[in-house]
Amino acid sequence: MTRRGIEIDGVSKTHWTRRGEPVEALRAVDLAVTEGEFVTLVGPSGCGKSSLLRIVAGLAAPSAGRVTIDGVTVTGPRPDVGLLFQRPTLLPWRTVRKNVLLPAEVLGLDRRLAAVRAAELLNLVGLRGFEEALPAELSGGMQGRVALARSLLQDPAILLMDEPFAALDALTREDLARELLGVWDRFRKSVLFVTHAIPEAVFLADRVAVMTSRPGHIAAIVPVDLPRPRDPSVVDTVAFGAIAAQVRALLARRAGLPPVSSSSDGRP
Ligand SMILES: Nc1ncnc2c1ncn2[C@@H]1O[C@H](COP(=O)(O)OP(=O)(O)OP(=O)(O)O)[C@@H](O)[C@H]1O
Ligand SMILES: [Mg+2]
Repeated sequence: MTRRGIEIDGVSKTHWTRRGEPVEALRAVDLAVTEGEFVTLVGPSGCGKSSLLRIVAGLAAPSAGRVTIDGVTVTGPRPDVGLLFQRPTLLPWRTVRKNVLLPAEVLGLDRRLAAVRAAELLNLVGLRGFEEALPAELSGGMQGRVALARSLLQDPAILLMDEPFAALDALTREDLARELLGVWDRFRKSVLFVTHAIPEAVFLADRVAVMTSRPGHIAAIVPVDLPRPRDPSVVDTVAFGAIAAQVRALLARRAGLPPVSSSSDGRP
């Protein structure tokens, strides 16, 4: 039977440095994102999160194991997978509208339909009126919104996001996390979302996958049984605090650090 969604099955990855030394980034990672599920991935810096996302995206091959999407082994980029990476990758010489339309050109989608959808998405992420602006004329948060709209243009069933809000200030980040959840509530994509911020990971997710330090391995998966749609005030509830503390303790244990009790970093 074909299961829909992402299945990561025993994926290992060894990178080779330019000096020919092996760097074992991932060791036997198993993780599934079922159809319409929102899974966040947290782990210490350098534990292989980006390596894993690139493999799921079909931008890199695993050294062992495999990734399937809807039962089909990933061997390269797919049109039903949207990507959003940490570094803003807008083309500086293209307008907002033309940046959002880029996937349509790359994938050869119907131009007229793509133009209509681009206008809808820019409206959805609060950028109506900025269609003809250049990226340099926008704030970092607005650029993040453009990238979010672009990742949704081809209406991907699956979204892979690698710390998409990391470069933004706390408030803009909360805004975008809220907006992303709004979009997700409407379209129910399957999402795999990497973040360093524990509150953000809990606020967004159905389940939080916690990785060990390199070689990265899934140490635990923490279910987030908070009702949806989620209001930002959920972060102040006891239930939220308990889940965040559990994720924090798992991360601290895996990193060999003493547990920290404060929860002041990166609220969603
Ligand atoms: N192309 C590459 N060649 C050699 N080593 C690499 C390559 N890409 C990643 N690595 C190494 O693999 C390990 C995992 O890197 P990766 O970028 O996947 O970590 P990460 O969990 O995303 O870290 P961060 O949280 O800092 O973004 C690191 O030790 C890194 O140096
Ligand atoms: Mg990374």
